[in-house]
Amino acid sequence: MKKIFIGLFLLSVINAQGQNTLISDMTTLQWEQLHPGIWKASVGTLKLNPLEFANAPKEQAIKALGEAPFPFQKADTYGLLTPTRTSIRLPLGETEKIYGLGLEFEGINRRGNVYTLKVDHYGGIKGYTHAPVPFYISSQGYGVLINSPQRIKIHVGIGNRKDSKKPEPIDRTTGKNWPARPLSDAIEASVEHGGMEIYVFSGKTLLEVVQRYNLFGGGGVLPPKWGLGFWHRMDTKSSDADVLKEVKDFEHHNFPLDVIGLEPGWQSFAYPCSFDWDPIRFPDPASFLEKMNDKGIRVNLWENPYVAPTSTMYEAIHPYTASHTVWLGEVPDYTIPEAKEILLAHHKKNHLDIGVSGYKFDEVDGYDFWLWPDHATFPSGHDAIAMRQVYGMMMQAMFDGYFKEKNQRTYGLIRSSYVGASNRNFVLYSDYYDHKGYITALVNSSLAGILWTPEIRSADSSEEWVRRFQSVCFSPLMMLNAWSSGAKPWSFPEVTDIVRNTIELRMRLLPYLYTAFHTYHQTGIPPFRAMILESGYTSNERYTKGVLDDTKNPYAEKKRIEATDQYMMGPSILVAPVFTGQKERQIILPEGNWYDFYSGEFRGNGETITIKTTLEKIPLLVKDGAIIPMLATIEINKEEKPPILVRHYGTKENTFTLYNDDGISYDYENGAFTLRELSVANKNNGKLKGTSKIIKKGQFDYGKITWEFMTAQ
Ligand code: GAL
Repeated sequence: MKKIFIGLFLLSVINAQGQNTLISDMTTLQWEQLHPGIWKASVGTLKLNPLEFANAPKEQAIKALGEAPFPFQKADTYGLLTPTRTSIRLPLGETEKIYGLGLEFEGINRRGNVYTLKVDHYGGIKGYTHAPVPFYISSQGYGVLINSPQRIKIHVGIGNRKDSKKPEPIDRTTGKNWPARPLSDAIEASVEHGGMEIYVFSGKTLLEVVQRYNLFGGGGVLPPKWGLGFWHRMDTKSSDADVLKEVKDFEHHNFPLDVIGLEPGWQSFAYPCSFDWDPIRFPDPASFLEKMNDKGIRVNLWENPYVAPTSTMYEAIHPYTASHTVWLGEVPDYTIPEAKEILLAHHKKNHLDIGVSGYKFDEVDGYDFWLWPDHATFPSGHDAIAMRQVYGMMMQAMFDGYFKEKNQRTYGLIRSSYVGASNRNFVLYSDYYDHKGYITALVNSSLAGILWTPEIRSADSSEEWVRRFQSVCFSPLMMLNAWSSGAKPWSFPEVTDIVRNTIELRMRLLPYLYTAFHTYHQTGIPPFRAMILESGYTSNERYTKGVLDDTKNPYAEKKRIEATDQYMMGPSILVAPVFTGQKERQIILPEGNWYDFYSGEFRGNGETITIKTTLEKIPLLVKDGAIIPMLATIEINKEEKPPILVRHYGTKENTFTLYNDDGISYDYENGAFTLRELSVANKNNGKLKGTSKIIKKGQFDYGKITWEFMTAQ
């Protein structure tokens, strides 16, 4: 079967030798169903398959979603292999909207543009970003993953073939609606060499499409509980004594602290890296880590992958490194098992066995003037472009595997990711620092199977400090990255209480959030989600006027705008961050009644509301019937059975299945967890009443439950 298939493609290569290829010369893609609602087709073969670094599909959970039909005409899908490029063509309806394509910081609409999907710093060419995930989602209820380790150039509803169905051209001088980018009926994508695999994910809703994609990568990640606490990254020159002093200062200022991040200076040499402790700043790492662990504070180490000649790992790894260096450090080829062994053995002995909780893998992305060139060679023979695309995933897979073996969960940071990443224990971040862009990235991350932190580093005013703190507290990783600023949460004394209250609120929401991550793990529903994934949501998409302007807009193009400044957290909280200077903001409420999180008051139903902002609070809206379990006190790991307060909003009856486990190991995979059903129902007297019962008994449960009905009945 396979042979015939390859034969067909050889034929198409021969056909394509002439420069003038028509659609009829292209080969119709052959689709094979892999799981209910998931299909695959190939054009050529992949030498390095990026999916090798993803986890295996969660088959049972995919099955549980049921069947879903193939979303378009198979006969309208094509592939072509030529000596210089491999390309595909997939159909696109006139009104279809396209979302996704990875960690983008601008807008969510991808139609009408060309993207070169390349792992890079953000800010260059369209498609250059830390996680250029080649997965797009259509408003018609399907998603497509184009799997290749090469830089995929994708034309999203842009450009027409001479033999495709296309609109009549309009004369620009006399026609009113001359389009600079005429409507196109296809998405076309190509790579310079190697093959492409195309996966189609179907679904009854956009959310289901995303779920299938995430489940295909093994389901979402379930971080350790401490990972959802407060992270503080130290000034890069800090010593062990500085860290211990900082910990004391956190206690003194009464701020929670779960993870300390050490930046480059923990090493004896950095940029490139020695991966060895600095003997002066950290003379006794084991006892330092012991002290930290005794206080319940995890330590996370910054690294980039480039090996310094002074590293004690250098001699061993040197034979397995690429032709070119980065910052004069050697670039290991971890597709070679021996290289992987050397790295893991070094890390195990020097960091992990003495209590390090995880890593921040930096600089795996770009720029070109820093990273290895496209013509570099790697000892495995893998192409340098492909290695760059998958390097971040390779690091994540290596360390996830290691922690899994130890039966210890990790949670860390990475600045490069790619396909099938949902099950990886890493969160993306950036040097880019636009607050609005950060929220857009949070929205887009949910369409790409990745997690993102809008980390706070510094601010020009106490107002900005609060606004950025508020959004990072409502994200997958709550972190102050003070590596260069040396900032503390209390750096703006006039707003210290507001910052502390926001952190505490996030900490108290742990039972709700941890359950949302468990749902991510089991069903692929992202804990932080774009509004387009929410049922009953109508976007406020509109077009700017295409005003002809000699210099600014010589083609009189219209621009489509859609809100990217609000998102969902868990099943029922809508987060609407406020940016510096905003005195009021609009919030689009999906259908159904929505209530204010803080007061329980009704706010609207399926409409756009305008609210006045206050500095103290990030606007949070809650769905009718929402059940929100919160810690009664903020400590995450300190009490064995922490008491909880369960809030209910609105008037609807509802249930919430609360999840709990040890929060640190993988024992939950073998059944070591508790499920408790929290129910709210109308009693005879017309009043709502909350009850709770265990539905799966395990060792880890919450303690006393108090109910709070937030909306007056
Ligand atoms: C940057 C990174 C920062 C910080 C810094 C340390 O590349 O984005 O968060 O870690 O390196 O040198």
